[in-house]
Amino acid sequence: MTAPKGYSARQIRLHWIVTALIVLQFLLHEPMSEAWDLIEDGQPPSFHWLVLSHVIGGALILIFALWRLALRATRGVPPPPVAEPPLLRRAAHFGHLALYALMIAMPLSGMAAWFGGIEAAAEAHEVMKVALLALVAAHVLAALWHQLWLKDGLLLRMKRPLD
Ligand code: HEM
Ligand code: HEM
Repeated sequence: MTAPKGYSARQIRLHWIVTALIVLQFLLHEPMSEAWDLIEDGQPPSFHWLVLSHVIGGALILIFALWRLALRATRGVPPPPVAEPPLLRRAAHFGHLALYALMIAMPLSGMAAWFGGIEAAAEAHEVMKVALLALVAAHVLAALWHQLWLKDGLLLRMKRPLD
């Protein structure tokens, strides 16, 4: 498979939809955390639509992450920028893989906690939340560094589809 010159329109759309969903998961998690606290205290949680949206939003992230991985395997992704030193190439590659791993493991741990009542899964969910935040922060800083310092137009790859 020869590497495409850029991301496809579908890959770009999925990247930004998942980004928006992840931001919402973080901004609107409070009712879910409160419902979980009630369950841990042995009380039934009261219904809140944001609890349902946390479950649905998380499940969508899982589906879209698997879809993106399938696209990555079948269509491929563009090669790293030519001027990127090998060490940074490897860091970006493993950073992207770790982001995919968390986009899968976070919803699975949330489901195991919520539907299976597994406390260890809720704890793992909380630990992974911190890892995801840290990786996304590094990812955004790297994108900004490319954009503002190296001025190599990397951000355009996630804006303009190319075959
Ligand atoms: C990538 C997808 C997801 C993200 C980014 C995410 C994010 C979060 C965040 C930030 C919290 C608050 C943690 C805290 O209070 O410190 C949380 C809590 C929780 N989430 Fe998710 N979540 C995701 C998917 C899911 C799914 C699919 C479910 C269930 C079906 C779920 C169930 C829970 C539960 C039960 C809690 C409360 C327990 C806890 O605080 O660990 N999450 N989630
Ligand atoms: C404002 C926020 C974000 C910006 C500016 C941004 C920017 C970018 C850019 C420019 C690329 C292309 C990198 C390249 O071709 O080498 C990219 C790829 C990627 N981004 Fe983001 N991103 C953001 C948020 C996120 C979030 C929240 C996630 C997931 C948690 C994420 C996951 C990924 C992954 C996995 C790739 C690699 C895609 C692949 O090659 O399969 N991004 N991002």
